[in-house]
Amino acid sequence: MSSFDPAVLDRLRAAAQEAAARAYAPYSKFYVGAALLFDDGSVVTGCNVENVSYGLTSCAERNALFRAISERGPEPKIVAIAVANAAGAPCPPCGACRQVMSEFVAAGAVVTFPGEHGWETISFARIFPSSFHFVPETR
Ligand code: THU
Repeated sequence: MSSFDPAVLDRLRAAAQEAAARAYAPYSKFYVGAALLFDDGSVVTGCNVENVSYGLTSCAERNALFRAISERGPEPKIVAIAVANAAGAPCPPCGACRQVMSEFVAAGAVVTFPGEHGWETISFARIFPSSFHFVPETR
């Protein structure tokens, strides 16, 4: 369920799909793209970048997010996130990316991704209900 204009989400999915075409994934051959929609209507994309030292691989979602923050600062103004992949396989964002995104999503943000039966769109709060929060000690 989402209150977003379906055309807006369609464009965001298309942007994620285009980003997937730029992925560097010679090891898994799983080419992922992500597109972040900001409250001003702008979109920032990213793709996964793998490395022969496999653990150094960086997901499309985090690459998009880090690019966005580097370009426009750390305001939590992301209102929608689309994830896509070249294979059209089910591809919800991984847990690590959900945790990272949790610090930058606006209230009511949604995530859209290929599910088991076509595109699924669900609220970020529902896909990631219990983010880790660090409360620094005061004493
Ligand atoms: N990957 C992403 O880019 N996003 C995700 O949410 C999950 C996985 C990438 C990492 C790796 O390059 C490839 O998909 C296979 O795991």
